[in-house]
Amino acid sequence: MKIAIINGPNLNLLGQRQPEVYGNEGFEGYFNFLQKAYSNVELEYFQSNIEGELVDAVQNFAKSCARIVLNAAAYTHTSIALADAVAAVKVSVIEVHISNVHAREAFRHHSYISPYAAGVIAGFGLDGYRLAIEGLLKKN
Ligand code: DQA
Repeated sequence: MKIAIINGPNLNLLGQRQPEVYGNEGFEGYFNFLQKAYSNVELEYFQSNIEGELVDAVQNFAKSCARIVLNAAAYTHTSIALADAVAAVKVSVIEVHISNVHAREAFRHHSYISPYAAGVIAGFGLDGYRLAIEGLLKKN
């Protein structure tokens, strides 16, 4: 099975960015760990700081992948375009947040993506991506 992980804006800075919120680990190293841990799954990874590129990524990965794990980062709280892309595709999309967005500022409590997501994981750090893969593998 093929699963795509899509990360949104500023997640290229994981490991350096607000480590007290997002931890000390960069995503590339964590992605290597995931690839080893799930050698039976074909994992793809894409990150962009640009909203339209993320819309394209959801549309394109939906053609080649069975499932998508999406951390839309700040676009979670602002992007109707990205929410429409998630609504448009037929593959299951799991929304992931590294931090517990509900324990943070009020503007992070609302997600445009959640109504169209198969599930939402927040607050488990990078382990949330692994939990999403576990969930998606069990989901038909
Ligand atoms: C985030 C939470 C968002 O509110 C924030 O804008 C991010 C990362 C998270 O993974 O916890 O950039 O999606």
